[in-house]
Amino acid sequence: MSIQDEFISTVSHEMRTPLTSIRGFSQTLLSSWDRIDDENKKKFIKIIEDQSNRLINLVENILTVSKANAGNIVMKKVFVNASINSIIPMFKEQYKNHKIIFTPQKDLPPARLDDDKLQQIMTNLIDNGGKYSEAGKTVTITTESKGDQIIIKVKDEGVGIKEEDADKLFKKFSRIENHLTSKTQGNGLGLYITKHLVESMNGQIDFESEENKGTTFIVTFPVYNEEEALKCSQKS
Ligand SMILES: Nc1ncnc2c1ncn2[C@@H]1O[C@H](COP(=O)(O)OP(=O)(O)O)[C@@H](O)[C@H]1O
Ligand SMILES: [Mg+2]
Repeated sequence: MSIQDEFISTVSHEMRTPLTSIRGFSQTLLSSWDRIDDENKKKFIKIIEDQSNRLINLVENILTVSKANAGNIVMKKVFVNASINSIIPMFKEQYKNHKIIFTPQKDLPPARLDDDKLQQIMTNLIDNGGKYSEAGKTVTITTESKGDQIIIKVKDEGVGIKEEDADKLFKKFSRIENHLTSKTQGNGLGLYITKHLVESMNGQIDFESEENKGTTFIVTFPVYNEEEALKCSQKS
């Protein structure tokens, strides 16, 4: 199969699951509206919302990789904790059998970022943390500031990454064989895009991992600096 055919095939497969679920729950709600109690109605609508979010994330990733969205980064003063906090409930729902813990540093200084892109980065990293670890495990997200840097970590207790696979990680379309990659859906775009986005916003991404123990992804961004922001806005 050519790389394009393979891409279309995996992406279609990834889209089918949420679409099937959205259609199923919509049909049930429409056909049995009077027989479903309010609590279940709400539950079904929540599933439709979550699955829609999953599709949006997939489309965002594809747009980013196709460069259709390049140059669309809008740097602003962003409160990283609030930005991360807004996507945590979605992951608690999606990975119900994991523990998703967010431990923000209090009074974290703001960063100069694109808020939507930060959420796209965090979505890819937290999703991987859940996907490549077994049910019951914990995914911990932390924020801290050190000097003029903001450090965001996503730590999981999953399968880990072998040293020899490290250079495949951030490559386009590359998935690494392990017993969870074969059980889960993916297209090998998430980390490629994540690195691209982090670096476009003057950040850095790195990871530490131990096989069968877990992996920590570390993302660093410069703290928001009024003078710097002013200089950049005058340039453009
Ligand atoms: N937290 C993680 N723990 C173990 N392996 C990981 C983790 N994150 C990513 N990987 C490996 O890196 C590969 C590439 O990740 P990614 O680009 O997000 O693609 P995808 O999740 O679609 O497979 C994955 O297929 C997986 O093998
Ligand atoms: Mg991924």
